[in-house]
Amino acid sequence: MITMKKLQELAREHGTPLFIVDHDEIRARYASFKRHLPRVQAYYAVKANPDPAIVKTLFDAGCSFDVASMPEFNIVYQYIKDMPAKKRQDWIWDKIIYANPIKANETLTELDQYKALVTFDNAEEIRKIRKHAPNSGLALRLKVPNTGAMVELSSKCGAAPGEAVDLILEADKAGLVVEGLSFHVGSQTTNFENFVQAINLAADIFDEARTRGYDKMSLLDIGGGFPAPYDSSVRPFRELARRINAEINRRFPKEIEILAEPGRFMVATACTVVTEIIGKAVRDGKLCYYMNDGIYHTYSGILFDHCRYKVESFKRGDRQICTVFGPTCDALDVISMSEDLPANLKLGDLLFSRNIGAYSQASATNFNGFPPAKTVHVNQ
Ligand SMILES: Cc1ncc(COP(=O)(O)O)c(C=O)c1O
Repeated sequence: MITMKKLQELAREHGTPLFIVDHDEIRARYASFKRHLPRVQAYYAVKANPDPAIVKTLFDAGCSFDVASMPEFNIVYQYIKDMPAKKRQDWIWDKIIYANPIKANETLTELDQYKALVTFDNAEEIRKIRKHAPNSGLALRLKVPNTGAMVELSSKCGAAPGEAVDLILEADKAGLVVEGLSFHVGSQTTNFENFVQAINLAADIFDEARTRGYDKMSLLDIGGGFPAPYDSSVRPFRELARRINAEINRRFPKEIEILAEPGRFMVATACTVVTEIIGKAVRDGKLCYYMNDGIYHTYSGILFDHCRYKVESFKRGDRQICTVFGPTCDALDVISMSEDLPANLKLGDLLFSRNIGAYSQASATNFNGFPPAKTVHVNQ
């Protein structure tokens, strides 16, 4: 973890708001994922934080990638573009999944030259893939319970289990190859039962497909959802890994390849934002701090990711429950209505939030003329 002293030094050197990425932590998270889930190949979900330097660190560590748009694909592609053609093609096939079940025709046309693995979850998409990207491999995305996940995804994506094998057979009839199944249990899933249920559901669909004559499936993609340790209520990753290992080993023979698409898990704890107090007021009897980063910028995850970030102070003092606002004129720009902070902070004092690497900077805007925080990379 980057020390408070180092955070202050960096803020002095680079100014604020400052988004600090610790690449040692990214490497440690990737190593931890591999150690605890030895049978599972991690495909980093680029959407969580598409910073090319983060992608490069994971690329160098041997990670694979989940991309969900051509711009995300191209972030990864820049690191393989100079490989010999055959090696590059094999790399794309082995290490990239285009995990967005709905793709525009133009996207499919562009993607076809790369012969990538893509997800789908409905009959219309089969027709589109057949016409515009017939060289792709397919993974059928299943709808699985997202119970208790911080971000629910199953209402938007996934074939119902009852229609899964019909879709597999329809794709087969269209001359496409369904290589396997995928699912997502919901982001920041602290209910480990979701993974257990989804793995078993997928295993049942493998069995049904085989019974109905389809035996070309050789992979299972268990998606994302691996929780970041935002607070002590999140049980240790090794506990979740133990349950996943037990279920995949019980239900899937060794020759079935297991993939996952962790996003948040890899980057949430690797980033910290340092901000500065630019205003201070008492409103309706409550102390309010205004800082130079907010909900339209690094803290955008409050809105889009349903995430809470603790705001901390470098200075000590008698504490009070305060409101913390961002810098824009919009009343939506609230970081917290109940942050426990020293009451004696002054304009120019620094604040910081740790564990803000996922779905934060990725959705920062330029709203109200304020640019996103400057990024610095440490331990790169
Ligand atoms: C298809 C897909 N894969 C992976 C992820 C990454 O999920 P997480 O950050 O929860 O690991 C997402 C997140 O929305 C997703 O939609």
